[in-house]
Amino acid sequence: MNNSKEILLKNPYKHNGTITSTVLKKTSSKFTKKAYIESYGCQMNFSDSEVVASILSSNDYEITSKPEDASLILINTCSIRDKAEQRIRKRLNDFNHLKKNNSKIKIGVLGCMAERVKHKFLEEEKIVDIVVGPDSYKDLPNLIEKAKNNIEAVNVILSKNETYGNISPIRINSNNISAFVSITRGCDNMCTFCVVPFTRGRERSRDPNSIINEIYSLEKKGFKELTLLGQNVDSYLWYGGGLKKDFSNASDLQKKTSISFDKLLKLIAETFPKMRIRFSTSNPQDMTTEVIKIMMLYENICKHIHLPFQSGSNRILKKMNRLYTREEYIALIKKIRKLIPDCGISHDIITGFPSENEKDHEDTLSLMEYVKYDFGYMFAYSERPGTLASRKYEDNVSLTIKKRRLTEIINLQQKHSHIRMKSFIGKTICVLVEKNSKKSDLKWSGRTTQNTVVVFEKKNFKIGDFVDVKIKDCTSGTLLGDAISYSKSI
Ligand code: SAH
Ligand code: F3S
Repeated sequence: MNNSKEILLKNPYKHNGTITSTVLKKTSSKFTKKAYIESYGCQMNFSDSEVVASILSSNDYEITSKPEDASLILINTCSIRDKAEQRIRKRLNDFNHLKKNNSKIKIGVLGCMAERVKHKFLEEEKIVDIVVGPDSYKDLPNLIEKAKNNIEAVNVILSKNETYGNISPIRINSNNISAFVSITRGCDNMCTFCVVPFTRGRERSRDPNSIINEIYSLEKKGFKELTLLGQNVDSYLWYGGGLKKDFSNASDLQKKTSISFDKLLKLIAETFPKMRIRFSTSNPQDMTTEVIKIMMLYENICKHIHLPFQSGSNRILKKMNRLYTREEYIALIKKIRKLIPDCGISHDIITGFPSENEKDHEDTLSLMEYVKYDFGYMFAYSERPGTLASRKYEDNVSLTIKKRRLTEIINLQQKHSHIRMKSFIGKTICVLVEKNSKKSDLKWSGRTTQNTVVVFEKKNFKIGDFVDVKIKDCTSGTLLGDAISYSKSI
């Protein structure tokens, strides 16, 4: 399990179905019960589990890393691909023996799969007692009571407002250096392959005051880096609350005083000059020049953009309802490279979308060849129930072809990652120390502003230091170097 946690930290943008058990140290003696939380999928789920830990801890629960000690077991689920769901159903089976030994144990499913499957979860997986969608975690204490009294405990109501702005997340899974801070929930983009708009609802943004307050408290605790999170951060828009789609009905004053993502970034960068700031994810269609300019102006905004393109073929992009063309995407990359020449750029690609042919696949490979991404996450198309693609398009690319195209894409990415890595050799770069290296306790592991992992001898440096490291060598995923001194940059 620790291993899985490391994978998550190393690949912080991946919907990888990662399991991480969550540990919360006892901070007071009030706890009377124990809960175990396991999280899968995207960063937002891991961030939500910290909100859940906070809600539970206010209700006398201590969070334990051992499911066998817990009277409440919660699984925060992912629906993004069929494989992720299958993995969770299999994992639920593992808890059968615990429930057989102690029928009082309650098992809850949280997150996107809970929202998608709803009440049917109780019939399909007899072990499940509680089903809670992503916007209903505040109802958990009530649902737990219901389950104890054998009353159906399901809440999958989606909200029109930012739901958890007033909750101070408890930093579980944390190195106490880097934290996630949610700024938007839901997504209005309706990419035809994607289940997220159905499981996480319409897009809404969080009050900037509550975002700033959360970052203040992180800074006070010694955190050095934060990642602003949202399915679609670039479309952040605060106009006093409410759904993004209702902005057109806002008053003139609300419109005049509204805060877009570039303004939020500037505000955070100026208020917290000693904090490294990251953000994810950016849909290319929503990324503005203003955001790139703000990134360029503030050293503490990390020079890395995760910019999923999904496909290099205009025909497929249209069918995916991605509202940019290959040419517009390339123009955006050119703009980024012009304004921030050393910017790290990563991607997500889906291969084998319905009707994708060899020419479309070649278009994807040639776009990769043009950009030469630092890294990326590559997936075979998985049909998701309820999405427009599942209703309109036949999943007609065979598994063999999907697999072959995926291998070609992964191989090309590996080649590009290696080229990017090698370009750092000989340079001295600032690294934020995060944790022990996986391979040696004598070495630290940290990341550069471009999000590249660097490993080096510890010397006298400690976790949380910004260190200048001279890069000597690399593997396809890690830079190897010598620490020189404390860094003046961040
Ligand atoms: N909001 C992000 C993506 C969130 S989902 C964006 O703007 O693109 C994360 C990634 O999972 C997506 O970028 C996509 O590459 C992949 N994904 C989503 N639905 C998928 C599906 N049905 N099959 C395969 N991969 C999928
Ligand atoms: Fe999904 Fe597209 Fe939104 S990939 S999360 S619908 S931007």
